[in-house]
Formats: sequence, C-alpha cells, structure tokens
Amino acid sequence: MSLRKAACQGGLLGAALASSCCAGCSTSSSSSIETLGRALHRAFLTATVPQGYIQTWAEVRGRQVEPFSVVQQEVEIVSERLRHSVSTGIPALKTAAEYFFRHGMEGKRLRPTLALLMSSALSPSAPPPEYLQADLRPAAEHAPELRRRQQRLAEISELIHVASLLHDDVIDDAETRRGVMSLNGVMGNKTAILAGDFLLARASVSLAALRNSETVVLMSQVLEHLVSGEIMQMTATSEQLLDLDHYLAKTYCKTASLMANSARSIAVLAGEAPEVCDMAWSYGRHLGLAFQVVDDLLDLTGSSSVLGKPALNDLRSGLATAPVLFAAQEEPELRPLILRRFKQEGDVALAMSLIQRTQGLRRAEELAAHHAKMAAEMIRCLPAAQSDHAEIAREALVQITHKVLTRKK
Ligand code: FPP
Ligand code: MG
Repeated sequence: MSLRKAACQGGLLGAALASSCCAGCSTSSSSSIETLGRALHRAFLTATVPQGYIQTWAEVRGRQVEPFSVVQQEVEIVSERLRHSVSTGIPALKTAAEYFFRHGMEGKRLRPTLALLMSSALSPSAPPPEYLQADLRPAAEHAPELRRRQQRLAEISELIHVASLLHDDVIDDAETRRGVMSLNGVMGNKTAILAGDFLLARASVSLAALRNSETVVLMSQVLEHLVSGEIMQMTATSEQLLDLDHYLAKTYCKTASLMANSARSIAVLAGEAPEVCDMAWSYGRHLGLAFQVVDDLLDLTGSSSVLGKPALNDLRSGLATAPVLFAAQEEPELRPLILRRFKQEGDVALAMSLIQRTQGLRRAEELAAHHAKMAAEMIRCLPAAQSDHAEIAREALVQITHKVLTRKK
C-alpha cells in the first residue's frame, strides 16, 4: 500500500470518506438529507478537532501560495464570458441579468476559482496560452476542448449561484447585497425572480452543450438541493429548529452542494476514476460546510459595513444557526427564543447576551475548522500530481481551506 493510501485510510480522512459515502449515495430525498445531516454530525463528534490548524498546515506544507492568484487570469476570462452570456436584446432583462456581473460587482468569484483550481489540480499540464483568452463562442455551441468545457462548468456554477441569490433576496425581502441595493430593491420582486430564471436558463443551455449527461444530472441535482434547502429552512418543525443534524443537512443543500457537485463535475469531465470524483466532491462539500458555518459566525460577530449586508440578519430572520444551536445546548433559556424564531421584542438582544455566556461561538469555530481540515485532507489524498502546475493548484485548494476560516466577509 502506498504511503498516500495508508495516510488516507486513517483518522480524520476515514471519517470524511465514511460520511462522504453516505451522502454520495443519496442526497435527493428529504429523509436521505436528514441522514446526511446525522452522518456529518457523527463524523464531527468522533473526529479529533484540530488545534492550531492553520499554523500546522503552513508549517507542514512549507510553501505559501496566494490561492486566488493561481487561476486569476482564467477567472477573469470566465467573468468576461459571463458578462457576454447574460446579455440579451431585451433592455430591462439585460439590466437585471447583468446586475451582479458588472465590473466591480462580481463578488469573490469563489465558485469559478474552486472549479478552475480543481481542473488544474487534476491536470497533467498548465492550460496553454490560447485558453487564457476569453471563449466567446455561443453557449449552445459545444466546445470539444477539455479545459474550455471546464471553464464553462465554472461559468455555470457562478450563474446558478447568482440566480439563487436573486431569488433568496426576494424571499428574505433583502434590501442590500454585496454592499449595494439588492436587485429586488432596484427593479422589484417580479423582475428579480425572472432575472434569476433567465440566468438558470442560460446555465441550462451551457450545461446541455457540454454533452455530458453525468454533469447534467449533478448540476441539476444542485438546483433541487438549493430549493430543498430553502424550503427546509422555511418549514422546519419545532424539533428541527433545535436540531444540529437538520441544520447541517439544510446547509449541505443551500451552500455545500453547489461546491461539491461542481468539483465532482470538473473531475467527471476530466474522465477521472470514481474515487477521484468522490474526493473532489468531498472537498467541495467540506469546504462548503466550513464556509457556511463561518458565514453564520460572521453574522453574529461581523459588522454590517464589512459584510455588505445587515449584521445579526439570521437572528432577525428567525434563524438559529450552528453557534446558536451549540449555545442552546448549554443555555436552555435560548430554546423558547429559537422556537418562536426570535419574534418577540428584545429577543435578538437577549439571545446575543445568552450566546455570549456559552461556548457556542467557540464550538462553531471548531466545527468550521473540522470541515476545513477534512477538505484539505481530500486534496492531500488525491493520486500523485502530474505536474508542478497541478501541485501548485492543490496547494491553493488547501490554502482556500485556511482562507475560509479567517475571512472577515
Ligand atoms: C443565501 O442564503 C441563499 C442561498 C445559498 C440559496 C437560496 C436558494 C433559493 C432561493 C432556491 C432557489 C434556487 C435557485 C437556483 C433559483 P442566506 O439568506 O442564508 O444568505 P445571505 O445572508 O447571503 O442572504
Ligand atoms: Mg438571504
């Protein structure tokens, strides 16, 4: 057995693979989503929570890379293609669809970055210079070149992400997004919903043009998960409101599924073996879970001006996230507040002061660190890199697991 394989069969990675099997087999029905939540939670409870995780990795790996810079040029051309692909001859729809793709409004572009880094991590060589020029062929036109198809997958991932945010802001009646007015705030709910639908339509055309039925299934399941997650959040019963497993299953659906299935699709397009596709999926899933738990922490601890959206938004919207659920295990006074979705006057302030008396924030930080560590383990256990470029991309994927933990917005 190779050292790499031996390392991959023990400790944290064993737990990661065990839970990835449960989730990989079934993520579409609501009961299997609940099972996934329980599996994720069990894996967390039985694994050793990493102490000083960030420093440890820096020391062990020795080399530091700025992860976003590794594929920055390629992310720029994907952004250019995105601006091109959301354009339409209908003026109101064009303004709406382009709203979050304008220069300076694109956000972190985390999803295209992850997709392209995963492409590089599995690639035998760096993309040739001609692939660093924007591909402006129509969405419906099939691109035979592997890297171009992976770039299109990066684009599809971002289209789905932005579409879900446009719909989410209508559901949440949000006034701001990325530090500016929300699209529903500027153009109204109907246009915002239709603009989201339009982005999904454009994503569907690109996806079909990949001519790979497995990626069509994976990315279509993401849509199902996004809707399921949103409905799970809206319709949670009293028991589910207090249940960390339900929170984790909902979080997989709302946040991690897109990262997981985009990463898997990249590996599928590359013709990788099923175990490698599983590792890519598992990386995306663990990273997505870490990302969302940090998001939940920032909602309680960050400032509105840095976040670009109101702070304490989750509590005000009636949501009990990981830090609150951990806090409620120690502080029973929080339970009635969670059950009435913090709707009585003074509930949000009272909840904050109760949370601060507990280890809720620290335990949520540990949960995020656990999933970040699992994601990094997945990269370390990939089959040996075939080029320097792949090695650097892997290092960048690991560094992103650190960045997710230390981000401020
Ligand atoms: C942000 O949640 C929202 C999501 C991650 C997904 C929302 C999904 C839907 C509205 C279902 C429809 C899906 C599609 C593809 C059209 P949040 O409110 O917790 O985060 P926020 O603070 O960024 O708003
Ligand atoms: Mg929202």
